[in-house]
Amino acid sequence: MFDTMTWTKIVGGFCGALLVFLLGNWASDVIYAESGTSGKPGYVVQVGPATTQPAAKEQGPDFKTAFASADVKKGETVFRKCAACHRVDGKNATGPHLNGVVGRAVASVADFSYSDAVKKLGGDWTPERLDEWLKDPKAYAPGTKMGFAGLPNVQDRADVIAYLATVK
Ligand code: HEC
Repeated sequence: MFDTMTWTKIVGGFCGALLVFLLGNWASDVIYAESGTSGKPGYVVQVGPATTQPAAKEQGPDFKTAFASADVKKGETVFRKCAACHRVDGKNATGPHLNGVVGRAVASVADFSYSDAVKKLGGDWTPERLDEWLKDPKAYAPGTKMGFAGLPNVQDRADVIAYLATVK
C-alpha cells in the first residue's frame, strides 16, 4: 500500500503536469491566435523603416469640446503672449486693440492699418475662426503682419478666446 507521502507526490506531480500543459496550451493560443482562422501568421516581423505609418494626428479634444470647458482665468494668462502687441483698453499698439474682438468684423478697427492679407478675409471673428487664426496665423492669412507663431495647444486657444469674449 502507498503511504500518505507517496500519494501526495503522485497527486502533486499530476497537478504540476496539468498546470504546465494548460499554460503551454494557453500560450500557443495567444501566440498563434490568428493563424487558425485566417491563415495569417500570429505574429508579424516588420522589415525596413516604418514609412507607411499614418501621420500622428493632432492630440487632444476638438475645439468645440475645449471651448465648452474653457477657463477664462487661464486665458488671461495665455493672453500675456499677445499683450506684447495687443491692448484691451481700446488703444492700438503693434496690433489692433482687441476689445470686443469676438464677434467683431475682421479688420474693422478704423485707425489701424491692416495688411491686405487680413483685410481680404472678410466676415466676423467667430470663436471658430479665431481658433483657426490663432493656431497658425501665417497659414490662415498668408502675408499677415501679425508676427506670431501661433498657439499649437487647442486648450490654450479655447481659453484665450473665452478670455477675449469677456473683454468688451
Ligand atoms: C508680434 C506681435 C503680435 C503678437 C504677439 C500677437 N499679435 Fe495679433 N496681430 C498683430 C498684428 C500686427 C495684427 C494685424 C495683422 C495684419 O493686419 O495682417 C494682428 C491681428 C490680430 C487679430 C485680427 C484683429 C482684427 O481686427 O481683425 C486678432 C484677432 C489677433 N491679432 C489676436 C491675437 C492673439 C489672441 C494673440 C495671442 C495669442 C496675438 N494676436 C498675438 C500682432 C501680434
